[in-house]
Amino acid sequence: MVISTELRIDAKRLAARLEALGAVGAIAGGGVCRLALTAEDRAGRDLVAGWMRELGLSVTVDAIGNVIGVREGLESGAPVMAGSHIDTVRTGGRYDGNLGVLGALEVIQTLNDAGLTTRRPLAVAFFTNEEGARFNPDMMGSLVYVGGLPLDEALATVGIDGESVGDCLKKIGYDGPAPCGQPEVHAYVELHVEQGPVLDLDGITIGAVEGVQGISWTEFAVLGVSNHAGTTPMRLRHDAGYVACAIANHAREIARSLGGDQVATVGAIKLSPNLVNVIANQAVFTVDLRNTDEAVLQDAERRLHAFAAEVAKAEGVELSHRSLARFEPVAFNPHVVNLVEATARRLGHTVRRLPSGAGHDAQMLARICPAGMIFVPSVAGISHNVKEFTALPDLEAGANVLLHTLLALAK
Ligand code: GLV
Ligand code: MN
Ligand code: MN
Repeated sequence: MVISTELRIDAKRLAARLEALGAVGAIAGGGVCRLALTAEDRAGRDLVAGWMRELGLSVTVDAIGNVIGVREGLESGAPVMAGSHIDTVRTGGRYDGNLGVLGALEVIQTLNDAGLTTRRPLAVAFFTNEEGARFNPDMMGSLVYVGGLPLDEALATVGIDGESVGDCLKKIGYDGPAPCGQPEVHAYVELHVEQGPVLDLDGITIGAVEGVQGISWTEFAVLGVSNHAGTTPMRLRHDAGYVACAIANHAREIARSLGGDQVATVGAIKLSPNLVNVIANQAVFTVDLRNTDEAVLQDAERRLHAFAAEVAKAEGVELSHRSLARFEPVAFNPHVVNLVEATARRLGHTVRRLPSGAGHDAQMLARICPAGMIFVPSVAGISHNVKEFTALPDLEAGANVLLHTLLALAK
């Protein structure tokens, strides 16, 4: 097979698919709501799986709902895989995840049109519940795929609305017959929007992603005593709302004092009975801590739990917690990182190496094969927001780097 280095993807076709998928579950402001395993997710899955079949891929759905389309190579064996996810957060944009899947489909169509067959097979995948916004942990489908979470445990997971992964998969018809973890993967590459400000601020087109920072998600539950907001002296309160807010405030203080890459977020909080004149007897809230350095992340966790225990004791409330997700930092395969960087340069793009602040399916695939990622700029670093935007020339550049990275790996 002789592959022209002039081979390029069709940016208009990629944009048209992004727009069509973005219309599924569209919400005000140009964003998308396709929480995992909802009716909207099913409609998105049907659309993308239909495109996979139109492009001649043989499509399988596994028991956790991962969808994989394989394009035959000149030789049989483990495919080089590209992919990502198509579920979104409730207030998501059109690019997060979608770009990696549709960029990979655009690569397939480009090869089909050029009549080129790679030596190794190629595969395009979209993994179930990458976001973790409805079911914890995030990156669930890829985690099951690589054997990091037993299928039964994943299927039994109950989401924020009380429904289980297993029931929802059945309901949307994506409880597939294929065994999880098939096919074996020769190498994995994921194209994704950066979702942070680095490339946009520096005016750089391509990020060669060196790894993904560690993620620690904890849910705290505080049990206090409800009483009258007007008559209960401050010293006699057992206020669950106060304790939740104090811990939330301290999470930010931990990030401030540790500095560097440490981030901390309290993104979900529920008070009961949630009334203006009633002291809350219950608070349930989440803390998301992340760092590229595992030791510092562990230090942040220690500080958080120590403070939480202290403030709960002082207020006379009960405190419990459970881990929703915990992943150590991941370093991508140096050969793949170098290849992404060299390919971007060869195609004439500015490129820099950087870590990922967000979690990605690629960090799970890295457990079973050489893996890496290609980032393109997110305007103003905005993501998990309907305003998420990446300009078409950057989408095009990213998909072309994906094309030539896959070709090199599939040689
Ligand atoms: C997944 O998208 C995450 O990083 O929260
Ligand atoms: Mn994503
Ligand atoms: Mn996301």
